Amino acid sequence: TGRSPRAAASLAAALAVLGLLAGCTPATSGVKGTPGAAGLRDPYFPKLGNGGYDVSRYALDLAYDPGTGRLDGTARITARATQDLSALNLDLSGLTVGAASVDGAPAAVSRAGDELTVRPRDELPLGREFTVTVDYSGVPEPLTDADGSTEGWLRSDDGAVAVGEPAGSMTWFPGNHHPSDKAVYEIALTAPGGLTALSNGVRVSSGKVSGGRVRTVWRQSEPMASYLATVMIGRYATTTGTALGSVPVVTAVEPGLVSATAGLRAELPGILARQQERFGPYPFGAAGAVVTADGLLGYALETQTRPVFPAGSFDRPTLVHELAHQWFGNSVTPETWRDIWLNEGFATYAEWLYAEEYGSVPARRSFETAFAEDANWAFPPADPPAAENLFDPPVYQRGAMVLHRLREAVGDGVFDELLRGWAAKYRHANASTADFTAYAESVAGRDLDDEVWEVWLYGDGRPEKP
Ligand code: ARG
Ligand code: ZN
Repeated sequence: TGRSPRAAASLAAALAVLGLLAGCTPATSGVKGTPGAAGLRDPYFPKLGNGGYDVSRYALDLAYDPGTGRLDGTARITARATQDLSALNLDLSGLTVGAASVDGAPAAVSRAGDELTVRPRDELPLGREFTVTVDYSGVPEPLTDADGSTEGWLRSDDGAVAVGEPAGSMTWFPGNHHPSDKAVYEIALTAPGGLTALSNGVRVSSGKVSGGRVRTVWRQSEPMASYLATVMIGRYATTTGTALGSVPVVTAVEPGLVSATAGLRAELPGILARQQERFGPYPFGAAGAVVTADGLLGYALETQTRPVFPAGSFDRPTLVHELAHQWFGNSVTPETWRDIWLNEGFATYAEWLYAEEYGSVPARRSFETAFAEDANWAFPPADPPAAENLFDPPVYQRGAMVLHRLREAVGDGVFDELLRGWAAKYRHANASTADFTAYAESVAGRDLDDEVWEVWLYGDGRPEKP
C-alpha cells in the first residue's frame, strides 16, 4: 500500500489509453496488459520497488538452520493490480527460487540480477486483488552498502539478525522493496528449540514442529515499510512487560549483557510515555528493544516495534533516537530515500529535546554545537549527493538544525503542535519533504521559504550564525 504506485498506475492507465488511440496496441480482444515496471525510479535506487501493483500483506514462512546458514522460505504476497498486468517484478537478492504461483495457479518465474519476474497464467486486470506465492531457499548473502556498512541477513554464531535499511530486506524475502509501498506482515520463524526467534509486532503463537524445532509466529498489524522488517534468531535473554497501559514490550539481549543493559531497558516504557505526550499516540501495538553482541551490526536500527542495537550503541541517546523513529520514519515514512532527513533529522531532534528536558542542555546549545561542526555542512539535508551519503552527518544534525530553526521561527507552542500534527496527518502513510514544508507553513500560517527552508534545508554551505 502506498501513494506512488497509485500515481504510477494512473500514468500507466493514461499511457495505455494513448497507446490505444494511436493504434499501437495489437488488435486483439480486450485490453492487453503490460509488465509492471522493474523499479519505482527512486532518486538513489531506481530499481528498488516495482510498478503495477500495491502490496497489502506479506505472509513469510521462514525456516532457518543456524548450523548451515540455510534459509527455506515461502512468501505469500497479497497485492492489488494498479494496471492491467501481464507480469510483475519482485526484488530479491541471492537465494534460489523454486516454484511460484498466482492465486494458486503455477506461474512462470525468471531472474535477472535482483529482479524476479513472475508471469501469471492469466493476466491480472487493473484493480484485481491477487496473491503471489514464491518458494525460495539458500544461504542469504548480506549486502554491502554504498557507505561501506553491511545490511541484510547477518549470520551470527548461533543464529542471525536481519536488517534492511535501505535495501537489505531483499536478501531474505522477495517483495516490493521500496518505502512507498507499506503493508502488514505475518512472519513465521522455524528454528531449533532453545533459541529465541523474534520479529516485528506481537507474538501470536509458538509451538513445536518436526526435528526438535519451534515455529513462532509474529504479526505486525499496522503498515510497515519493508526496510523495517526484522528477524532475530539466537540465544537471547528475554523479558516481557507493558508500556503505555497495554502495549506489550519485549526486550531481548545477548545473555552476557543482561545486567549491563537492565537499567536502560527499564527506562524504555518511561521514554515512550514522554514521547507519546510530545509526538501523539504511539503508532503501534507492540514495543521493545533487542541488544546484540558487538560485531554483528555496525549501527542501531529502528526496526518496527523492535529496534535493534549493537551492545556498544545501547545508550540513552540512541534508545531515545530509535524510539522516536517509531513515529518519524516507521509511522510517517519517507516517500523516497531523498526524504531520509524526515527520519534522521526528527530522531536527532528527539535526542535534543530529551537532553533539554533531562540533561539541562537547551536545544539552542545542541544547535550551536552542530552549527560549529564542519562535517554537518557537507550538503543540504534535503538533497544528499549520492546513496553513500544518506546516513551522513548533515542528514542527522543539519536535519535537526532545520527543525530548531523552525521552532525559533514559529515559537515553542506552535512547534509542539506541529510535531504532533505532522505525526497525526501522515500516520501510517508516506510523506515527502514538500509535504513537510507545506504542512509546516499551513500550521505557521505563513510562508517560511526565506526564513527557514532556503537557507537551512536547501542551502549550500554554512550561513551566518543566527
Ligand atoms: N536509521 C539508522 C539510525 O537510526 C541508521 C541506519 C544506517 N544504515 C546504513 N545502511 N548505513 O541511525
Ligand atoms: Zn536514525
